Amino acid sequence: MKTIVITGATSGIGLETARLLACRGFSVIATGRDAGRCKAARDSILASAPDAEVRFYPADLMRRKDALDLSARIREDLDRTSAGCLHALINNAGCAKSWYATTEDGLEQQFALNYLAGFLLTYGLSPALSRAGGRVIMTASQSHKGARVRWDDLMLTRRYNPLTAYKQSKLCDVLFARALNDRYAALGIRAYAVDPGLVCTEIGNKAGGVVGLVWSLRKRHGIPPSVSAEAFARLCIPVQHPAGLYHDRHGEKAFSRQVTAENAARLFSVSERLCGISYQEET
Ligand SMILES: NC(=O)c1ccc[n+]([C@@H]2O[C@H](COP(=O)([O-])OP(=O)(O)OC[C@H]3O[C@@H](n4cnc5c(N)ncnc54)[C@H](OP(=O)(O)O)[C@@H]3O)[C@@H](O)[C@H]2O)c1
Repeated sequence: MKTIVITGATSGIGLETARLLACRGFSVIATGRDAGRCKAARDSILASAPDAEVRFYPADLMRRKDALDLSARIREDLDRTSAGCLHALINNAGCAKSWYATTEDGLEQQFALNYLAGFLLTYGLSPALSRAGGRVIMTASQSHKGARVRWDDLMLTRRYNPLTAYKQSKLCDVLFARALNDRYAALGIRAYAVDPGLVCTEIGNKAGGVVGLVWSLRKRHGIPPSVSAEAFARLCIPVQHPAGLYHDRHGEKAFSRQVTAENAARLFSVSERLCGISYQEET
């Protein structure tokens, strides 16, 4: 049985993707920020698939230390259950914000959760991914297409616009997938970014404020999260690595011109510096 790890699996797209992959025979290691919500999500998945293998680990992925601790716990789990091999890591946990807020580490929150948490988890799990010739999947968004990385003010402290910050974090997701392919193809790791579509979840409502109000109207046009989950299944199920970088549930699609090798490499180095880590040492 192949193992996948998925973050942000207590609601929305993550919960339905974890359910779908558990129903399709994967062993699922899932994460959420709250232990009670993790238990409820696990119960819900087991109600759909009573024989499923599903384990939840709670962690606040806005904290760099928690992301690294989580990857250590998952590595122990994989050593016990899957000969240390990880078939796929889906970095899906995310948030939207209505105003500027920083994490304990002093990072803008959308950047920290939507992108950097995935960068750190991938770092911690890269030996397990490499062992299995595994896949890394970033939950990106069509909105990355309107964005640029603000290299001189990555935390967007000047004239903060929450939507700009969200779009930048999603562009970073696509750039990271590109950087992984550029740097680690030789290790057998393959990375993708997924556009789940406009999906009817609570993500904007959790932000409150103006984002919450706008989202309440916008999400009425969204597809159910169970439908968007198909995009992830299409990348996890085939035996051979699917081609391409950026996918939705119908297949490969075009991504922003900002996704260049140069921007991908630059973001990778900046992220290593921000986290005080070096991927070279881990892989
Ligand atoms: N909905 C859309 O139309 C859409 C479109 C494009 C991309 N996306 C992306 O899809 C991903 C999932 O979003 P969604 O729409 O499914 O929203 P969601 O239902 O709010 O799911 C977000 C998940 O992340 C978890 N999370 C939030 N803060 C966290 C933290 N500090 N530490 C760890 N986990 C945390 C949430 O936990 P709780 O359950 O406790 O809140 C939840 O499990 C995000 O990356 C989002 O940017 C969504």
